[in-house]
Formats: sequence, structure tokens, C-alpha cells
Amino acid sequence: MERPLIFAANWKMNHGPEEARAFAQKFLALTSAVEGRSLWFFPPAVSIAALSETLGNRPDVSVGAQNVHWEPKGAFTGAISIPMVMEVGARLTLVGHSERRHLFGETDEQAARKTRAALNAGITPLVCVGETLAERDGGRTEQVIVRQLGPIFQALQPGDWAKVLLAYEPVWAIGTGKNATPDDAAQIHELIRLELGRREVVQRVPILYGGSVNSGNVAFLLSRPQIDGVLVGGASLDPAGWAELIEQGSRSKVRPSGGYDIIAG
Ligand code: 13P
Repeated sequence: MERPLIFAANWKMNHGPEEARAFAQKFLALTSAVEGRSLWFFPPAVSIAALSETLGNRPDVSVGAQNVHWEPKGAFTGAISIPMVMEVGARLTLVGHSERRHLFGETDEQAARKTRAALNAGITPLVCVGETLAERDGGRTEQVIVRQLGPIFQALQPGDWAKVLLAYEPVWAIGTGKNATPDDAAQIHELIRLELGRREVVQRVPILYGGSVNSGNVAFLLSRPQIDGVLVGGASLDPAGWAELIEQGSRSKVRPSGGYDIIAG
């Protein structure tokens, strides 16, 4: 069996409802559903309803939130809860994106609470981790990734990981045009798998790569067995460009999944 491939679009603060609808109409005409391939969209919260209604019936397409609060309701001005995004069609949520961490001060503990709350509510969390340039240059990549994952391991039982996905997004590669090489990315994905194995997580947790992915580099990245999909910002904003990226990525030599779990001895 070929491994599933995931192409996830993080629109960040782009495309209101009207633009989202126009995007979806164009995009649907440019792509068709392919077995084993999932296309995910993370629009701004106000566009979730419009996008999920317009993308409607395609079984390969899902819509998610970029951020949620861990509480279901209450006095949290400006925040949006998981039941609210689910009500308008979200089936997934990003958690701990680096822009949430670095621009909005979100902590590792908050990311863990959101992950726990997402699982409790029945929505799939895609948890993002990644080091800054200073951390990388200081040789602390591994330490940072392990630290970011720590509270998540504490908040989850090993069995919960069947419903969790991870994304490795090095902060220095986001929106900079400098993507990690397939070797760099594969190495960190291996590290994450080792950490999962150490915690006796035996499920095959999909790990996506994100950071300046484009239609020119996507096939190289996805040719690595460690990389299960891509999380894309800038190159997902235009329907034709995003469809082309998906097309190029789908051509990568996809290897048998062959049980990629590493369980530390
Ligand atoms: P870019 O693809 O624009 O580098 O953004 C990556 C990202 O942050 C996706 O979540």
C-alpha cells in the first residue's frame, strides 16, 4: 500500500469568505479526488463556513481552523472555541503554529491544552513544532523540538496519537524562501519519530514538513519516506499555483509505507 499524502494549505490572514469561495470554485475545477491523497485547507476562521460549503462534497478535501481556544466557551475576548469551528465545518485544527508561538506568545503548555481539547471534542489536531534560526545556529534544534513536544506527551495517552498529526516547520524557513533541504527535514522527522517511539507511541503518526514549500521543491521533499505531506503558506494562496504544487508533489516517487514506526529499544 502506498502511504497517504497530505497537502495542507495554511492561508494565514489571507482570503475572506468571498475570496475563499472564488478560490474553491476555481480549485475544484483544477483537481480531482485521488485515492490516498488528502487536501486540507486552514483558512481564517471567518472563511471556514464559506470554504467548507463551497468545497462541499469532495471526499478528499477537509477544512480546518488555524487556531482555537481550549475552553468550549466563556470570557475569552477574541478567542474562538473548538465547538464553534466544528459547527461551521472544521474537522481539523492547527495547534502551536510558529506564528502563534512567536507573534502571539503561545506557550508549549497552551499548545498541549489545545491538543487535548481538540481530541476531547473530536477534531483532529495538526501540531506544529520547529526551531528558530538562532536555535538552529546554536545547535539547539533537537532540544527545542523535544521541549515543544514535552507537554503534548504529558497531555496525551499513547493511544491518543492515532488521531494526531505533527508538522515540522523550521521558523527560519517560513516565508523566507529558504526551505530545509530534504535531508535536513528528513533528519528532524526521524528525531520526532524517535521521540514518539521513546514514549511508546506505536501508531504511525503522519509528520508534515512546512516552510517555503513550492511547486519546484515539493517533489524532492516528498520523495523522502520520512515526510508524509506538506504544510504550505504562500504557495497555497492562488488556486492554479496550489493545484500545480499538488500535482507536482503527487508525482514524487511514493514508497510503500512499510510501517515506519520506530520503537526505541
Ligand atoms: P510558507 O509556505 O509561506 O513558508 O509558510 C509555511 C507555513 O508557515 C505553513 O504553516
